[in-house]
Amino acid sequence: MAEDASPLLEVEDLQIELVTHRGVVRAVDGVSFTVGQGETVTLIGESGSGKSTTAMGVLRLLPEGLAVLSGTARVGGEDVVADPEAARRVRGRTVSLIPQDPMTALSPVHTIGRQLGDALRLRHPGLSRAEARERGTRLLDQVRISEPGTRWKTYPHQFSGGMLQRILIAIALAAEPRLLVADEPTSALDATVQAGVLDLLLDLQERTGVGMLMITHDLGVARLVSDRIHVMKEGRFVESGPAERIVERPTHPYTRTLLAAVPALGPWDEDGLADHTPLGAAR
Ligand SMILES: Nc1ncnc2c1ncn2[C@@H]1O[C@H](COP(=O)(O)OP(=O)(O)O)[C@@H](O)[C@H]1O
Ligand SMILES: [Mg+2]
Repeated sequence: MAEDASPLLEVEDLQIELVTHRGVVRAVDGVSFTVGQGETVTLIGESGSGKSTTAMGVLRLLPEGLAVLSGTARVGGEDVVADPEAARRVRGRTVSLIPQDPMTALSPVHTIGRQLGDALRLRHPGLSRAEARERGTRLLDQVRISEPGTRWKTYPHQFSGGMLQRILIAIALAAEPRLLVADEPTSALDATVQAGVLDLLLDLQERTGVGMLMITHDLGVARLVSDRIHVMKEGRFVESGPAERIVERPTHPYTRTLLAAVPALGPWDEDGLADHTPLGAAR
């Protein structure tokens, strides 16, 4: 088959209305973006800005009947807005999701091996148990789980949050996706563990060329991983551009607010320090 030069993900004027108990909310209000092979494109914004709704809409994982989509979202060329069946075809094949909370995303009553094996057999239904185990241990090795053969028969509670997140990445990779959607994949983790998981994702991307749609509220994370950044506020993009430009020369006040929340970016703000006068101190 000829190499397909079109983007892995092509979103045009996507609108998503959610039916809530307080009425209809337009959570996504006309966003357009693309993700190409080997690219990481990040949606950043405060909580409630519509990032997860966009990601779940693209995967069509929003509850049918409670979410009304319009516009287009082509995943590997198939428009999942026009055709829910297309979404079923591309999920777990062309595109996989890395969920947000590693502590709750896995079943506590099944071994890691069973859950990874199930994911592998979804993609390759004919796989024997031995073959699934062989491929699965290789995937665990790829996500830097040491002694993957021994870990195969252990349960989620025997792992730390960072290890569980890497196992979830292995499960997402079992589908051999061309596109990964990662919704705040590190926000439940400590800063040092977070850095390890991000580094792993970048390394996997370099080796496999997988495209990534990354969701984060943390501009530090966005700066580290992204080729392009879209800054989201109230369902719209207020600013879009190459990661470096957004971080170094933000034009929208909202982006500057997000930047101000990243402590490691600049020298200490002396005015800020001056504010640390203890409460009740004499003036
Ligand atoms: N399950 C839900 N029920 C009601 N409203 C929701 C639900 N999920 C999201 N929303 C609304 O949709 C908007 C976008 O939410 P979301 O996409 O989760 O934002 P983000 O991921 O950026 O934090 C918010 O206004 C939120 O109140
Ligand atoms: Mg969210």
